Amino acid sequence: MQNVEFLSNDIFRIVSQVAKEAGVRAYVIGGYVRDCFLQRHCKDIDIVVEGSGIEIATKVAGVVKSKVTVFKRFGTAMFRYKGMEIEFVGARKESYRADSRNPIVENGTLEDDQKRRDFTINALAFSLQEEDFGKLADPFNGVRDLQAGLIRTPLDPDTTYSDDPLRMIRAIRFASQLSFSIVPESLESIRRNRKRLDILSRERISDELHKILLSPKPSVGLRLLEETELMPEILPQISRLKGVEMVDGKGHKDNFAHTLQVVDNVAEKSDNLWLRWAALLHDIGKPQTKRFEPSVGWTFHSHDFIGARMVPGIFRQLKMPLNEKMRYVQKLVQLHLRPIALVQDEVTDSAVRRLLFDAGDDIDDLMTLCEADITSKNDRVVLKHRHNFAMVKQKLIEVEQKDAIRNFKNPVTGEMIMERYNIPPCREIGELKEYVKNAILDGKIENNVAQAYALMEQRAEEMGLGKRDGRADA
Ligand code: CTP
Repeated sequence: MQNVEFLSNDIFRIVSQVAKEAGVRAYVIGGYVRDCFLQRHCKDIDIVVEGSGIEIATKVAGVVKSKVTVFKRFGTAMFRYKGMEIEFVGARKESYRADSRNPIVENGTLEDDQKRRDFTINALAFSLQEEDFGKLADPFNGVRDLQAGLIRTPLDPDTTYSDDPLRMIRAIRFASQLSFSIVPESLESIRRNRKRLDILSRERISDELHKILLSPKPSVGLRLLEETELMPEILPQISRLKGVEMVDGKGHKDNFAHTLQVVDNVAEKSDNLWLRWAALLHDIGKPQTKRFEPSVGWTFHSHDFIGARMVPGIFRQLKMPLNEKMRYVQKLVQLHLRPIALVQDEVTDSAVRRLLFDAGDDIDDLMTLCEADITSKNDRVVLKHRHNFAMVKQKLIEVEQKDAIRNFKNPVTGEMIMERYNIPPCREIGELKEYVKNAILDGKIENNVAQAYALMEQRAEEMGLGKRDGRADA
């Protein structure tokens, strides 16, 4: 089977020619071939050579005038061509010496190399030999598994996963990205080998988590992580959301199932990875704050604040940078109840202005999260919340039109105050600015310099600042 994308790519003919001249055989392998069958676009190409991958890569890069990067230790080399990354590796086989349990890696054939790959669907290869150009090599029935939507290892799964334990999460990631199933013996092997995740760098794990979260329906992968017991090894805080406790016949919702639903709801609306992270972590503070109060039932007071406080620890644990993305996730976790909570009382302009002020540019994402958070088995509850949510949304639009609060900048600055009263930096400046800001947010004055300045002068007078006015004394 030959594919249009494959045939239209001139790099393969060039590799074919160079390999022929060097007297070696070369094949396209892995994700590129898989994605040809799935009609997905794949921007990276892996080429395996029965010989030196580095030598062929260097020669091909010379022909297409690209700069080759060689990774001697791994026996690989790559270059960029027409926006694609083209990586070359020599076919390898593993063998075991009787006196050592460590494998030695030697040069091998295409099939030796295919055996050592992660999944049958990733072990497919197209020939680049002139005589059978484009012919599929599929010794492990990868195409059958592609058609059946199955993730299966070419060898005994215990062998494939112990080669590289990251493949356990990759299996789940592919299942989530492609809506595939993992065959039962592989699932059992993953569960059995879960402790092997310990040897992996957290960065590799979080890269896979990102891909699971970015998949069309992330709950598929998240549920598999829990079912295979990988979740407690990676993100125990998510596993702890599971379960329903009953007291006096009253239960609360299963926060794990709820969280997965919220992530899927967000995924339907947005491709923003960090908004999806916020959805995953939004209720992370619930287990710690759970109480049963006989008069009201189950409560999770302050789970928004506790949850936000847990976010940096989770990022640190996964070696994800503590940067503005982390602060964004933390902010959304902290604010996720605010829009709906507004409705409990009357929705006043000032409450809406405060929400706009606190959320700033992230208000739209917060509203997406908040809407996604409306899940209940009780249709009446869902309807009521949706109605309240719509009210808040409408109010937000009205207030936005009236006042420009979203990117609020205090019309009164510290410099203005220092100059007006001829004073050095001091605590009173902060107090004055805060006073003016609150007056604007509470709707006592409008958001403009004239009204803000007048209020500042009035308040400064009350604070006795006017007496220190250099010009007044002069
Ligand atoms: N591979 C493997 N074991 C791994 C990682 C990769 O056997 N732990 C092999 C697979 O054959 C895979 C190929 O190397 O197809 C390329 O790996 P990579 O680029 O990470 O994955 P892709 O399959 O291309 O998919 P994606 O780009 O979505 O990560």
